[in-house]
Amino acid sequence: MKILVTGGLGFIGSHTVVALQNKGYEVVVIDNLSNSSLQVLEGITQITSKTPEFQKIDLKDKSGLHDFFINHQDISGVIHFAASKAVGESVENPLLYYENNLAALTYLLQNLVKLDKQNMIFSSSCTVYGQADELPISEDAPVKKAMSPYGNTKQIGEEIIRDTCATEDKLRAISLRYFNPIGAHPSAEIGELPLGTPQNLVPFITQTAISKRKELSVFGDDYPTSDGTCIRDYIHVMDLAEAHVIALERLLSAPTKDTFEVFNVGTGVGSSVLEVIKAFENASGEKLNYKIVGRRAGDVVAAYADTKKANEILGWKAKRSLEQALKDAWTWEKTRVKA
Ligand code: WQD
Repeated sequence: MKILVTGGLGFIGSHTVVALQNKGYEVVVIDNLSNSSLQVLEGITQITSKTPEFQKIDLKDKSGLHDFFINHQDISGVIHFAASKAVGESVENPLLYYENNLAALTYLLQNLVKLDKQNMIFSSSCTVYGQADELPISEDAPVKKAMSPYGNTKQIGEEIIRDTCATEDKLRAISLRYFNPIGAHPSAEIGELPLGTPQNLVPFITQTAISKRKELSVFGDDYPTSDGTCIRDYIHVMDLAEAHVIALERLLSAPTKDTFEVFNVGTGVGSSVLEVIKAFENASGEKLNYKIVGRRAGDVVAAYADTKKANEILGWKAKRSLEQALKDAWTWEKTRVKA
């Protein structure tokens, strides 16, 4: 079966391509290379000895996308990652996010609904919950007003897909609400490639440990948590990648009752920033240089997943530990320095 992966050279996309190929799927990748490089294609091939078909296409290019689908009528499913994902950048440049994440999504859907039966997995985020009233966060927690245009594009994106599935009986979709993806493939052939200064915690930690950054700033230790720092659900990117394959197989295997379903994808375990630092020091044997600074605007105090629905309905559960993810992130960082 042939599966299209949009944004397939990105961090989560590339790991999902590997997981798909490991399960015997033929993969076609489209990516506009705005936040990735062709080196990632080499990394995927190194791991699986199979090079996915690759086309450099921007989903905003309506005619390019149309031509692609004319020549790829045999796609059985689409996993849609291609989108901008920097929270801070989305606040500064909301229109860039609404165009790139939503207009492009509508063009993709307009092509999908012309094909025969279609199955779509959508890359969403726990950001849609904002600061949830109850922890762990379940899928029926209320979607709150987004804290950023980026988070808003995930909320609106889900609604666009839900409405399309409701009217197009040939399209079914699953939205996966990720918690915090971290780590890298254990081979260190692929991993996270943050552009410029990393916004996320773990790449900043590994770049500090390798002395690419002077020290990590911990954004606030005066939150109402055990050690005062924010709590998140850090999930190994390979666990997340495998969840995409399992969700796709749910759509490919049998008709589901609902045409649009949502699943939280996390470990179900919350870890504070200081606990992640400690776990990194244990996993790497490196002492981390950090200082406590003021809070970062927009941060929620705590977010970790209620994984019951994914465990019971998808039959998926995260297998890798926080320490394993940090060890793989560290191996990847050390490999990059040599590159
Ligand atoms: C985690 C914790 C920070 C950096 C965001 C998006 C989410 C997804 C993942 C795209 C927080 C603290 C961080 C640093 C720090 N993005 N931190 N110093 O904000 O939970 O989630 O990225 O899909 O949608 O919302 O992740 O890694 O930025 O922060 O203290 O240098 O680490 O305050 O408590 P976040 P993060």
